[in-house]
This record gives sequence, structure tokens and C-alpha cells, in this order.
Amino acid sequence: MRTLITNGTIVTAEGSYEADILVDGETIAQIGRDLAAAGVTADETIDASGRYVIPGAIDVHTHMELPFGGTFAKDTFETGTRAAAFGGTTCIVDFAVQPRGKSLREGLDTWHAKAEGNAVVDYGFHMIMSDVNDATLAEMDQLVAEGVPDFKLFTAYPGVFYSDDGAIFRAMQQTAKNGGLIMMHAENGLAIDVVAAQYAESGKTDPYYHGVVRFPIFEGEATNRVIRLAEAAGVPVYIVHLSARDALNEVRAARDRGAMAFYPLCPQYLFLSLDDLGNGFEGAKFVCSPPLRPKDHQEELWKGLIKDDLQVVSTDHCPFDFKGQKELGRGDFRKIPNGLPGVEERVDLIHDGGVVAGRITRERWVELVSTAPAKLFGMYPRKGAIAVGSDADLVIYDPNAKHVLSASTHHMAVDYSCYEGREVQGIAQTVLSRGTVLVRDRQWVGPKGHGRFVKRSTADFARLA
Ligand code: URP
Ligand code: ZN
Ligand code: ZN
Repeated sequence: MRTLITNGTIVTAEGSYEADILVDGETIAQIGRDLAAAGVTADETIDASGRYVIPGAIDVHTHMELPFGGTFAKDTFETGTRAAAFGGTTCIVDFAVQPRGKSLREGLDTWHAKAEGNAVVDYGFHMIMSDVNDATLAEMDQLVAEGVPDFKLFTAYPGVFYSDDGAIFRAMQQTAKNGGLIMMHAENGLAIDVVAAQYAESGKTDPYYHGVVRFPIFEGEATNRVIRLAEAAGVPVYIVHLSARDALNEVRAARDRGAMAFYPLCPQYLFLSLDDLGNGFEGAKFVCSPPLRPKDHQEELWKGLIKDDLQVVSTDHCPFDFKGQKELGRGDFRKIPNGLPGVEERVDLIHDGGVVAGRITRERWVELVSTAPAKLFGMYPRKGAIAVGSDADLVIYDPNAKHVLSASTHHMAVDYSCYEGREVQGIAQTVLSRGTVLVRDRQWVGPKGHGRFVKRSTADFARLA
């Protein structure tokens, strides 16, 4: 199958230009002006006049079906990746979970089984390590060889995913040997639990207090601590989500002294704030960790993106229905499952709040949502690029179309939208994954289970630092 995409403006992280793209099978075969006039033929032609053609976006932080807080994140690989595609995302990297006391292999096999035959866009995995011991350290080497080269550990959630500093340091030392990457959830979970218990005991049980008890300084402290541990181990580190100015200051200091530390930003920390956690139990819709911060952190985070202190935008998509799931925490904010939906909205939010608002260029937007994640997570230039030989993961993006974000129109399997009623400019019109059209003019036309596991290599961090 050959598809010719004509008359579009190709936007990549490096620059923008007018050209046609010939897709042959699953990859990009040719890029040039007026390809049809030059004799190129195709089975199908897609006219991209007035639109951008961008590399499919990559979301390197999702949690499909994550077990958390006594329930499971609502999106399956089928529903979540379909929603991703509607939002212009053609590849996700999801977090497989090692069940406590079991092997990494068991956790990874479970995630492969969830995704295979169900995901409609390509997918990779990171591994959440619940136990660090001789056996799991040895397993890490095997996973790196299998294309799962990143391992997430937590200084948060004591009793659930929490690891102490010794365990984190041992895992880091192992990546010094096997080339993997440690990813950290950096909040001081032990201190947070002390404050949370004090608030709950004094009757402060509304969702709002979830945002209050997780002090920004607890995020700053843990961020500094894990970066220092990584420096001591001589390895790069990736902090999976950053919400507070306090953490950003630690990041800047670390990068200034040459630490190989990388940070993404999630749209919720740019567009939502502590105020959203108010309004009684409705605030449960906005409970995630690290929490939403007071509004005055937001511009500082935008600056972090502009100056490249923060290199990636990913979602931390972890959706729980308001009814029946978030409600588990009525009367005690500590029992609200942590996480927000967002896999479908990321590309448009950053386009609207970044490019349309004049904060970043369209090239930087592509870099943040596609190219930088591909490079950091060992998929470039197969993904994250528009180049001959790259996977034909392509999005025909209308930068002028306005639409309203709403649970009534989104495709995520969750009963609310964090951005209900918000108008954004820019929408993915037509989406191809490895040459197959999944979304055509906003209609789903893709085959079931089209997604494939992406075996990733270790990233070349020296190039990215
Ligand atoms: O609130 C969040 N972020 N839930 C998902 C788990 C995690 O910490 O990433
Ligand atoms: Zn986390
Ligand atoms: Zn997460």
C-alpha cells in the first residue's frame, strides 16, 4: 500500500517546510515537492493543504489498567490507545508493574498480555520495580536486552510502591552497568504521610487537602535527593513528573553543575491548579501525585519548557471514573485513587497554550511531544522523525480548527474531563500509524489490535545532556 500525502507543511523539531510524503508500506519512502508531477504514484492520496504534517506524538508516561488504591485505571490498552490516536499520539510507553514479592518477568508478561492484540498504536514498556533485591537486579539486565530499558522507583507511596534510598541506589548502580535508565517519582512520601494523617485526624478530609499536605518542599527535597544519588552512582536519572517550582529549582541547579538529569512536564501542571481541588468532593477529579500546585507555579513551569530545563511533555494518563472510583475516597482524601486522564488532550493543549499563545514555536511543540521522547527513550529516528526510513507514524494536524474538550466527546473510557468546556485551537485530523490510517477526518477507521510492541534501545544520554 502506497499513500501520498500532498501539499502539507511538514513540521519537525528541526524546522518546517512544504513537501509531499510518500509512504510505502509501513515506512516513509520519499519526501519532496510535487511528487505526483515527478511521476510518483500511490494507491491513495491525502490532501494536507493548510495543515501541518507532524511525526506521530509519543506519550512516554501512561498507566493503562494500573492497579491503584483498590481499583484499576479505567482505560484498557484498547480504549486508551484509541483515545491516544484521536489526540495525535501514535506511540505510548506504559508502566508495567512488578507485583510485590514476584519477579519483574511476571509483571512484564502481564503487561504484554494486556497490550498484545488490543493496543491500536505502538507501545513500549517501562518497568515499575516494587522490590530491589539480588534477583530483580539481575533481571534488570535481561529486560534492558529485551527492549525495556527503564525502571521506575518511588520515594512516594509508602507501603505501596515506595523504595528506600539504599534500594534506589542499588538499582542505579545496576543501570551504570547495563545502560538502563532509572525513572523516579520524587516526593518525600514518608513526610507526606505524617502531615496527611495530621490533617485527616483534625477533620480536614476533603480532596483539597491532598494538594495541601504534599508540600512543594517535599517534592524539592526528594528531587534533589534522587539526583544526588544518581550523581553518586554516575548515571542519568529521569524524574517522571514535576509540578512544583521547588523541584524545578533543584533541576536547574543540577543541570547547571552538569548532572545528567531529565524531566518531563505533564499538561495538568500547566493548565490546572490547587484551586481545582477545591469545590468539595468534586475536587477528587483532580487528585494526582505530585499534586496540582497554586497557580503561580505555572508560568515558572512554562519557562522551564522554554529554556529546556524540562525536555518532554507526557501525560501520566491514569484515569479513574468519578463515580465509583474517585468516590472510594469520600470522607478521606487519602483513599482517593491518584491519577488523571489526559492521553487524548496533550498534543492540543500544548499546541494551544504553547504555540497559539506565543510561548513556544511549532517546532518546539513537535520536539516536546514527539522527538525528544523518541530520543530519550531509544526510539529515534524510527519514531519522532519525518525522514526516509522512519515509521510512517504521521499526523495531519489542523492548527486552526477550534474545538471544545469534554467528556461528552472524548474517547477515553472515563466519565469526566479535567478540561471540561475548555476551547483549544488545533486538532489531529487524520492519523497514520506505520502507514495505516487509524483516524480519517476525525472518524475511526483503524483495524483492531494494530499496535505492536516497540523494542527500545538505551538512549544516548551524552547527546541529550
Ligand atoms: O497520581 C498519579 N500520578 N498516579 C499514577 C501513578 C504515578 O505516580 O505515576
Ligand atoms: Zn508517579
Ligand atoms: Zn505515573
